[in-house]
Amino acid sequence: MQHEAIQEIAAAGSLETLQAVKTRYVGKSGLVTKELGALGKLPPEERRARGAEINAVRQAIQAALDEREAALRREALDAKLAGEAIDVTLPGLPLPAGGLHPINRVYEDLVNIYERLGYAVVEGPEVEDEHHNFEALNVPWYHPARDLQDTFWLEDGRLLRTHTSPMQVRYMVDHEPDLKVVVRGKVYRYEATDATHESMFHQLEGLVVGDGISMADLKGTIAEMARGLYGAGARVRFQPSYYPFVEPGADFAVYWDNPRGESKWLELGGCGMIHPNVFKAVDDLREAQGKPRVYEGKTGFAFGLGPERIAMLKYKIPDIRYFYANDPRVIGQFRGEL
Ligand code: PHE
Repeated sequence: MQHEAIQEIAAAGSLETLQAVKTRYVGKSGLVTKELGALGKLPPEERRARGAEINAVRQAIQAALDEREAALRREALDAKLAGEAIDVTLPGLPLPAGGLHPINRVYEDLVNIYERLGYAVVEGPEVEDEHHNFEALNVPWYHPARDLQDTFWLEDGRLLRTHTSPMQVRYMVDHEPDLKVVVRGKVYRYEATDATHESMFHQLEGLVVGDGISMADLKGTIAEMARGLYGAGARVRFQPSYYPFVEPGADFAVYWDNPRGESKWLELGGCGMIHPNVFKAVDDLREAQGKPRVYEGKTGFAFGLGPERIAMLKYKIPDIRYFYANDPRVIGQFRGEL
């Protein structure tokens, strides 16, 4: 019996099989246990010798069981460790990386330039009222300039701002001069779209107000921005233009030059000296809020430009509509790149 038991123990390939063998021989009603139970029926003189014999068998089987169990447990652990092994030399999995939208990259360049010059940076509401978008900016309802900015009207009489200039008014109502601020954000125009026109696009608006601010300050500021964007050799050009909220008003362009030999004048935006009617409208709004009139008699300048134009040139994007079509083939090209 001992021989058979040892063979079965050695052949047990798993802890379950080994447990079955254990039960068969040394379990409560196992073969060895039964033999021990039968001792009582033997005559006393045989009992001692037979008892010693069976106990020896039982101990031998138990020892074999323990040894096999330990071996099987070791094997199972080894297999588990091998299965869970990590090869630290394998290359890592690539993580999907996002990236900044090209318009935000350009905004970042612009905002950095103005932050260095000490400007505050703000945003403002895209849903505006007529007063801030037009009236307070010296554009009365009958003014032909309203046709220049075809407007998305909302059912409640409000509108989607057609430019960031209403933030000039809001900022001045909330702050006293001297001030320097740039406004970034989306604007909307109800017009046919083509390669250079979208019904939603972006603007960066600048506003500086103080004592004795002049056109020379405005030109110097735009020139400084051009150098920040295109390097020390950048040039700027101003030509007279009309915006109701500035007088005089101008359009400005920067000469864009790069080592690949590409260069051209890039029409960037409009600017001018704040019209006295704007200061008056701001003081009226301030007065209605119980704030002191502090703008009449001040001077200042404002400018507005479109980051889309800069981004199209910088990243060679031929059609403004690519920016907002969310085609991953376009946007994916800006992944992780700075
Ligand atoms: N708001 C004007 C536009 O959208 C740009 C501008 C801003 C012009 C500030 C002059 C001064 O076209």
